[in-house]
Amino acid sequence: MNTPPVTADLLSTGQRVLARNYAPGKLGLVRGEGSRVFDGDGRDYIDLGTGISVTSFGHRHPEIEKAVRAQLDKLWHVSNLYYNEPAVKLAVELTETSFAERVFFCNSGSEATEAAIKLVRRAASATRAPQQRDILTFEGGFHGRTLAAVTATAQPKYHEGFEPLPGGFRYCPFNDLDALEQHFDGNVCAVLIEPVQGEGGIVPAAPGFLKRVRELCDANDAMMIVDEVQCGLLRTGKLWAHQWEDGVIPDVIPDVISDVASQSVSLSRRAVRGILKTFSSVRPSISRRTYSPIKSGSLLFWSPRR
Ligand SMILES: Cc1ncc(COP(=O)(O)O)c(C=O)c1O
Repeated sequence: MNTPPVTADLLSTGQRVLARNYAPGKLGLVRGEGSRVFDGDGRDYIDLGTGISVTSFGHRHPEIEKAVRAQLDKLWHVSNLYYNEPAVKLAVELTETSFAERVFFCNSGSEATEAAIKLVRRAASATRAPQQRDILTFEGGFHGRTLAAVTATAQPKYHEGFEPLPGGFRYCPFNDLDALEQHFDGNVCAVLIEPVQGEGGIVPAAPGFLKRVRELCDANDAMMIVDEVQCGLLRTGKLWAHQWEDGVIPDVIPDVISDVASQSVSLSRRAVRGILKTFSSVRPSISRRTYSPIKSGSLLFWSPRR
């Protein structure tokens, strides 16, 4: 079948001017409405990809659109050198409905993971020798594409060509309690785990596994980072996926909120929060980002309490 003209033009121009970082399919999308996306030639598709699990509310949800427009009329970007109203309000929503005491906003899941890694390392640096700051992660997991996040991702195919990788990570088979006990010792300062492995094939943690991770973290004075970038925020039916296991309260959650605003005003693809319970215990300047009030404003339409 011949590719219709508008799509053909978009594909050939895209192939010429975009970095060959991705291998996009042969769709040239120009518009979205609810769960459907449209190409420039009027063909429509059901959006099962949802921006890789981020546009959970679909496209042009009226309440999100209203919130974006309202924020556009008020304040755009001011950096995090100042407090801004929507960021503070959103952080209140998140802390009042979660285990967390504080929220850190950044621009992507990788940055949220990176910030969590830096957070636990800095906290450990106050009390532990350098050889006692290992982070334990799980085979089949995925935590992002920055150098530390990709190293935390225990899949060799993502490491190839980026060596030498940062040190201090150890990898354990997922859902294997014996292996978990063997890989854990006093040199582990944190565990980074997805309650449901997304990229790894939608594999939930087996009953009891997260609980054992929590117990071992407590016994070894290590922190538990629960990566809910892909499975958090009601995607499994509870606000957080780790809540399916009784008695598991993490120390840190890097998480992504799907952010239609960022798409509509050409800002970054995702708005991210690392919910960092222990943030107050470490010095500032772990990370500084260009997080925008427009994003927080647009996210305020959503409340975990609704
Ligand atoms: C569990 C998990 N963590 C982190 C990331 C990285 O997020 P981002 O692509 O926004 O950097 C992803 C992305 O798919 C993910 O699934």
